[in-house]
Amino acid sequence: MDHKITIKNNKLIVPDYPVIPYIEGDGIGKEIFQATQTVVDKTIEMLYCGKRKIQWKELLAGEKAYDQTGTWLPEETMNAFKDYLVGIKGPLTTPVGEGIRSLNVTLRQELDLYACVRPVRWFSGVESPVKYPEKVDMIIFRENTEDIYAGIEWEEGTPEAVKFYQFLSKEMGTKKVRFPETSSFGIKPVSKEGSERLIRSAIEYALKNKLPKVTLVHKGNIMKFTEGGFKKWGYALAEREYKKELEEGKLVLDDCIADAFLQNTLLKPENYSVIATLNLNGDYISDQLAAMVGGIGIAPGANINYLTGHAIFEATHGTAPDIAGKNMANPCSLLLSATMMLEYLGWKEASKKIEEAIEKTFQQKKATTDLARFMDNGISLSTTEFTQALVNNL
Ligand code: NAI
Repeated sequence: MDHKITIKNNKLIVPDYPVIPYIEGDGIGKEIFQATQTVVDKTIEMLYCGKRKIQWKELLAGEKAYDQTGTWLPEETMNAFKDYLVGIKGPLTTPVGEGIRSLNVTLRQELDLYACVRPVRWFSGVESPVKYPEKVDMIIFRENTEDIYAGIEWEEGTPEAVKFYQFLSKEMGTKKVRFPETSSFGIKPVSKEGSERLIRSAIEYALKNKLPKVTLVHKGNIMKFTEGGFKKWGYALAEREYKKELEEGKLVLDDCIADAFLQNTLLKPENYSVIATLNLNGDYISDQLAAMVGGIGIAPGANINYLTGHAIFEATHGTAPDIAGKNMANPCSLLLSATMMLEYLGWKEASKKIEEAIEKTFQQKKATTDLARFMDNGISLSTTEFTQALVNNL
């Protein structure tokens, strides 16, 4: 029997015993992965009584891969993600100074995971720096393949930078570079296709989940053709493909300039629901919103290509080397990423049950130290104790 997840006509076909490849991750990866697996497996067992079960398949990447195989990202790992469509990963150390790209970036680019999806909601019990964290309930769709993040850059003083400036000044007639001799240059590609597929994903998500609004966040007032293009193409796409939904009020689309958006989300977060934005804006926005509900320890994420079905769910924080191996790490970022994965598979009740258990545990003031220290009379638990508390609350 085939246990592979497949896709047909844009719809995932998920067997009852799907094989899910996973990368444990470096640093705290092992600890948070064990916690995640324990809670996910227990939930599925409770809900589906053996009729459904995840078959976890470990893949190597990062330090563990390097130690065992001499490469940071073995081809076998990449092929398995391609083959099995849906996977999950812990944080990976970015190798420094060896001419190797970030492993995360490599995975995203190779699989063309164009949507970085980050839900942001508050769990009661968690301390937040804002007055009304319960008003924060958004999901960010960040474009993941373009923008100034495409990595097309030339350093000041290099022959490439000189050549590029010559091209700009001689062939393009540009006179706007203030200090040409000492400038580094970066290119910001933003395409209609890239913007449309991202914005379409955000709109589809909003419609499917009956969410009140999609907001295009951009800096089009300054960068007219790139960020402005994103906005223009977004509205045109909605008019073209979702005319009926717009007319019936099922889809509400608006836009906001990125700097105003950062301010507005602090002042009136209830005005926002689904956010579609470009790569760099999305990076800043994700961190601000995550901080508003308690920080990166509980911020989940996924990188998805909705057309091919490929998706990698991941903890959004790093390997936390300062606490690795100390049984202190908060597993919630990875666990909530796993709940996003369950939702993506269509196992919604499992996803909901885990979120409820997390909330209940926080309400009992039980948490790992990173969160418990900010709670009034917070009970600081180790990773394994916290995992047990979650299981008890399922
Ligand atoms: P980091 O996120 O690992 O740590 C920042 C701070 O947050 C540390 O004080 C850490 O103890 C704390 N922290 C992070 N996750 C936590 C958790 N689950 N529970 C409790 N506390 C937690 O960021 P840093 O130190 O900048 O990066 C360390 C390594 O991680 C680097 O090699 C970096 O390249 C890599 N990294 C990997 C990412 C990924 O795989 N997605 C993302 C970010 C960084």
